[in-house]
Amino acid sequence: MRIIKVKDYDEMSKKAAEIIIERVRRAPDMVLGLATGGTPIGTYQELVSDHVHAETSYRNVTTFNLDEYIGLSGESSHSYRAFMNKHLFELIDILEENIHIPNGVSEDIQKECIEYEELIQKHGGIDLQILGIGQNGHIGFNEPGTSFESTTHIVELDPSTREANARFFKNSEDVPEKAITIGIATIMRSKEILLLISGEQKRAAFKQLVNGEVDEKFPASVLKKHQNVSIIADDAARGD
Ligand code: GLP
Repeated sequence: MRIIKVKDYDEMSKKAAEIIIERVRRAPDMVLGLATGGTPIGTYQELVSDHVHAETSYRNVTTFNLDEYIGLSGESSHSYRAFMNKHLFELIDILEENIHIPNGVSEDIQKECIEYEELIQKHGGIDLQILGIGQNGHIGFNEPGTSFESTTHIVELDPSTREANARFFKNSEDVPEKAITIGIATIMRSKEILLLISGEQKRAAFKQLVNGEVDEKFPASVLKKHQNVSIIADDAARGD
């Protein structure tokens, strides 16, 4: 794991965007794995600004998002689909047919998981996967205890994850109890991974990731077994 040290959230966002833009320019038809949460918002703003000013194009890029809440349709403002539309997709020239996010209101969620996984593999896997990290070490919505062999599956969200994500909802009870997430094995098949960590509230997770053992109890620890992972961590997350 390569650790890229940055000062703060802004610098993290700029650095992450710089790496993504370089990869998109080098391979305009790449497959990009995207994340939601507060962490990548600044990165998406940088991508949009670069798209407007430097005209990096996403016309041939295919995207796969990590996860989606079960029970929320793309039209719901709290869905990850709506989040992505607002922060990125509506602001760049990506084609609708190249955007992929699990369907949280599919009639057959199990089938949705299988098909989503197959679709990723059909596109040759993910070239660059962007990740945030939960305070409990979750990546995507792979909560502690998830098998490292897991592919796209249904998850029961950890109470601490629901609490952490309640800030995006009006009432904490509105946070869905379940989600669809790509699995740990799916993430590990990505050719390159970029993990973003910012803020004091992620310090314990950063420490555990860097110093801890590889253990299913801390999902992000699996990244130590990947050949091409960069972590962009700011001063507050690193604690120095
Ligand atoms: C959610 C997402 C994760 C994200 C995590 C951290 O649970 N499913 O993909 O990494 O939150 O979010 P934040 O960046 O808001 O701290």
